[in-house]
Amino acid sequence: MSKHFCDELNNVITFFNDKITTCCGPNQSPLYYKIHSNNFIIDFSFFKKKKKEYLEYLINQKTFFCYNCFFLRERKESDVINDKYNEINISHWTNCNCHCIYCSRNKNNNILIKNLFQKRGQHYDLLPIVQDLYKNDLLDKENLIVRFQGGDIGVLEEFEDLVKEFDKNGTKMFHFLSNNIIYQPIIAEMFKKDKAFLITSLDCGSKETYKKIKRVNQFDKMINNLKRYKEECGEKAKLNVKYVIVENYNDNLQEAKNFLSIIKEIKIPIIQYDIDYRKIMMKENFQFIIPSTYYKIYELFEKYCKENNCTFDINPYTRNILEQGYFSSLNNKKLY
Ligand SMILES: C[S@@+](CC[C@H](N)C(=O)[O-])C[C@H]1O[C@@H](n2cnc3c(N)ncnc32)[C@H](O)[C@@H]1O
Ligand code: SF4
Ligand code: SF4
Repeated sequence: MSKHFCDELNNVITFFNDKITTCCGPNQSPLYYKIHSNNFIIDFSFFKKKKKEYLEYLINQKTFFCYNCFFLRERKESDVINDKYNEINISHWTNCNCHCIYCSRNKNNNILIKNLFQKRGQHYDLLPIVQDLYKNDLLDKENLIVRFQGGDIGVLEEFEDLVKEFDKNGTKMFHFLSNNIIYQPIIAEMFKKDKAFLITSLDCGSKETYKKIKRVNQFDKMINNLKRYKEECGEKAKLNVKYVIVENYNDNLQEAKNFLSIIKEIKIPIIQYDIDYRKIMMKENFQFIIPSTYYKIYELFEKYCKENNCTFDINPYTRNILEQGYFSSLNNKKLY
């Protein structure tokens, strides 16, 4: 059956440092704007027009963008083109105070990008654009989900101002993705209002492995910040701590068990399992058979969650790969 509808395309807008796109899905996502300088002018009527055009192309199967994307689905009668966005992905800066071995911003793993605090003027300012999105009635105020990605919010000068602007307008939920090296009082404030998740990649159960993967010596700070949010916000601190399995770094049961000891000690309410997607997504003509340890770590986490009143989180893409047993870019079928 042909698949030619996408909820991301219908509902999401994404700001990168060099472009504004529909989604931040795994494939080449349809483009709204290519950004060439920090002082660009946006025609806001363009977004509505362009979204409609893209969705109509998709529905009529006239497009090659979104090709093979996992988010494509069959269209239902009830699907209508949404005039507004109810999800905004914020990734308009790339600086970070950390150097994860797997991160796409470190394309050359041997070069550590300088830790620069991302000041206004080094990238375009998002705050005036957000204010204009509201003025032009493009954001679904009460249902809006705001996802900060980056770079890291710990080095984004605009961060607090942006959160306040969204909060003032009644945003439903914030998803803060961060390495959690810097404690953010505004996140605690949003936790207390029941309006936030903090999603943070720990990826290990020891200081040594942390240093090898993150390539900074901030394990203690990261752990203390998790504890501080718990102490200050209690049950309202919706902390989602990730374990991205990286081959030859943390793909062993002992490391995963040590991770769970930390999770248990701090009483983290959500853990997330993931796989280093450089292995499964970024190579053409490549097949990666998921090793058995990856499944054992999955089972370990699942069992822990059942026994400890903890939520087990896994994104649908990763679940799909695990069920299939391998990822292959050789035999992906054309979807339409
Ligand atoms: C690019 S980071 C930006 C936000 C923030 N600095 C952080 O690390 O959470 C967003 C998320 O992408 C995930 N990520 C980055 N590279 C990855 C990879 N190669 N495989 C799987 N997840 C990855 C990180 O674990 C993180 O949760
Ligand atoms: S189908 Fe995939 S690439 Fe296309 S808009 Fe949806 S999520 Fe993005
Ligand atoms: S903390 Fe996030 S942005 Fe920074 S290097 Fe790691 S994954 Fe990349």
